[in-house]
Amino acid sequence: MDLRIKSYQEYKDNYAQSIENPEEFWSVIAKKFTWKKQWKTTLEWNFNEPNIKWFQEGELNITENLLDRHLETKGEQVAFYWEANDPSEVGKSITYNELYKEVCKFSNALRQSGVKKGDRICIYMPMVLESVVAILACARVGAIHSIIFAGFSSNALADRINDAQAKLVITSDGLNRGTKQVDLKSMVDVAVNSCSCIEKIIVLNCINSNPPMQEGRDVWYNDIIKGQSTTCQPEIMNSEDMLFILYTSGSTGKPKGVVHTCGGYMVYTAYSFQNVFQYEEGDVFWCTADIGWITGHSYIVYGPLLAGATSVIFEGVPTYPDAGRFWQVCEKYNVNQFYTAPTAIRSLMAFGLDVVNKYDLSALKVIGSVGEPINEEAWNWYFENIGKKNCPVVDTWWQTETGGIMLSGLGKLSPMKPTHAGYPLPGIQMVLLDGDGTEIIENQQEGYLCIKFPWPSMLRTTYGDHDRCKNVYFSNYDGYYFTGDGAKRDENGMYRIIGRVDDVINVSGHRFGTAEIEDAINTNKFALESAVVGYPHDIKGQGIYAYVVVDGTNSAEQSQIISSLTESVSEGIGKIAKPDKIQLVTGLPKTRSGKIMRRILRKIAEGEKSNFGDTSTLLDPTLVEDIVSNSL
Ligand code: PRX
Repeated sequence: MDLRIKSYQEYKDNYAQSIENPEEFWSVIAKKFTWKKQWKTTLEWNFNEPNIKWFQEGELNITENLLDRHLETKGEQVAFYWEANDPSEVGKSITYNELYKEVCKFSNALRQSGVKKGDRICIYMPMVLESVVAILACARVGAIHSIIFAGFSSNALADRINDAQAKLVITSDGLNRGTKQVDLKSMVDVAVNSCSCIEKIIVLNCINSNPPMQEGRDVWYNDIIKGQSTTCQPEIMNSEDMLFILYTSGSTGKPKGVVHTCGGYMVYTAYSFQNVFQYEEGDVFWCTADIGWITGHSYIVYGPLLAGATSVIFEGVPTYPDAGRFWQVCEKYNVNQFYTAPTAIRSLMAFGLDVVNKYDLSALKVIGSVGEPINEEAWNWYFENIGKKNCPVVDTWWQTETGGIMLSGLGKLSPMKPTHAGYPLPGIQMVLLDGDGTEIIENQQEGYLCIKFPWPSMLRTTYGDHDRCKNVYFSNYDGYYFTGDGAKRDENGMYRIIGRVDDVINVSGHRFGTAEIEDAINTNKFALESAVVGYPHDIKGQGIYAYVVVDGTNSAEQSQIISSLTESVSEGIGKIAKPDKIQLVTGLPKTRSGKIMRRILRKIAEGEKSNFGDTSTLLDPTLVEDIVSNSL
C-alpha cells in the first residue's frame, strides 16, 4: 500500500484537495486499508461538545492491517531488528510471519485469561519485542491498552491503573538501562496494592531476577503462551471503538487519559509515516523513542507496521557503552531513516565527532527530530555530522493528542529551514490565533497554534471525563482545537514552534504539568507550599526549578531537606521528573488575592535579577528581593 506523495507539487495539490474536500481526500486513502465492512459516514463532527467521528459504522481490526495483510507478500520480511542494551548480546529479529504467530498466541492467552473487548490493560514494559506483541495482542482482542512508560513510579502507575480501571497489567521482572537494571515487578506489586481493579499480572522474564509471584494473580508470560494456537480470530471493531488510552500531563490536575480510536488513528499514522519519512520498500527505519510515549506508539509500532516496514527497536540508552551507540546501531542495521529527540542530539554533541566518524552512516536518507524545539546549533550539528549534509532533517511537530505528525517536511521533497517544523501535512488546517481568538492571516506573525478542522487521528475524549477534554482543548477558542503551543510563521508561511504557553514543562521531550510536580513536592513532610517553573536548560531543553516554602521550625539540614523533596518527586511521579534546582524560600510572591506570580518566578529561574514588570499588586515585594538574592 503506497501512500507516498512523490513531489513537492504533489504535496501542494494534495494539500489543496484535502482542504477543499477533506472527506473525499481521507476516504480515498482509507479505502486502501482492509475493512471488514465499509464505513457509511466519512466524518461527523463539531468542536463544541466535542464530537468527532471518522469512518462511522466501518468495521476493522487494526492488527489485520498491520499483520495479516502483509503475510502473503512480506511474511519472511523482518518487521523488527531488536538491539539489546548490551552490545555484546546477540540481537534478535522477527519476521512478519513470526510476529503474527506471537501476537496470535498472546491474544489467545489474553482471551483465555478472561480479557474481552473494551477491557483496559496496562502495559508497563521495557523496550523488547514482547512489548510490541503485547500491544498488538490487546488490539487484536479489542482490549484497550494503556501503556505506562517504565520510568514512572509506583504511585504514578497506580493512578493510571485506577483511572482506567484496568483489570490486567503486563510487565517484566525488570529492565536493562545502560549499566543499571531496574526492577519493574516490585514497582507493579506496590502499585496494585492500591488498585482493586487488577485481577492478573503477566510477567515477562527479561533479567532473570526471579521476583516473588503471587499465586492466583501473577503468571509468567512464557507459561501462558505455551501451547497456544498460532492463529487467532481478530475481534471486529467499529472504527470509533477505542484503540488505546495514553496518559499525558496538562497544566492542571492529574495526567489525563487521551483516547485514540481504531479507524482514524490507523489511517493517519500509516499516511504520515510513509510521507514524512518517505519510507520506501526495503528501507530500515529507526525511531529511538520509548513505546511508553506517543512517538513510540505511532512510529515504532503502528505507523511502520501498517506500512509493512522494517524497523529497529533498541533496548538501551544513547550513551552506553559510549556516546557512539546510536551511530554504531545505524551502521549495524544500515538504517535509512533515523528519528530521535533534540535532547539526545544535544547530549551527544558534547562528546565530539570521534565517536560519530568511526561509523558508516552512508545509508541514512532522512533524519528526524521530535518532542521539543530543536535549537539552531543542534540542527546544524545533526544535519552536518549525522546527515553529512545529504539528508533532510524533518523537524516533526505533534502531540499525544494529535496521534500523528502535524507539521513537518516530507523527506527531501519539501523546503527546510533550521528550527522550523515546516508546513502542515495534507488534511491539517493549522492556524495562528491572536489573544482574542481571531485568525492571523498574515505571515511573519506570532500567535496561538490551533487547528480548525478534524483530522483522522485526533483525540476523541479524555478517558472518563469528556468535559475535561472540552475544557482543555476546545474551550479556549470557540471552534478550534487549541494545542497549548505558541508559534510563528515566517515570510513563506513556514511554522516555527516557540513552546508551550501553558503551565506545561517539556523536559527532554517529556511533558510535565507544574501542578503535578508541586503536588508531589507538597506531600513531603518539610514542604508547606511550592511553585514549580521551567527554565532553559542546555541539554534537556527545559529544566525544572522548584521554589519550596519549608516549615521554619524544623531542624533538618538544608541538603537533607532538598534530597527528601527530590525523593518525594521520584516517588510521586518518577525519577524523570526530579527538579534540577530546588530553592528553599520563606514565602512565594503572591498577589493580594493570593495568586502566585509565576511570571516573576520564571524570570528569576531564567537568571534575571531585576525588571520584573509591574509588581505593584504584590502582597510582599521584599520576598522577591530575598528570592533573587538566594537564587540558584
Ligand atoms: O510543545 C510541543 C512539543 O511537545 C508537545 C507535545 O508533547 P507530547 O504530547 O509528549 O508529544 C511529544 C512527541 C510528539 C507539544 O505541544 N513538541 C513536540 N514536537 C515538537 C515540539 N516542539 C517543537 N518542535 C517539535 N518538533
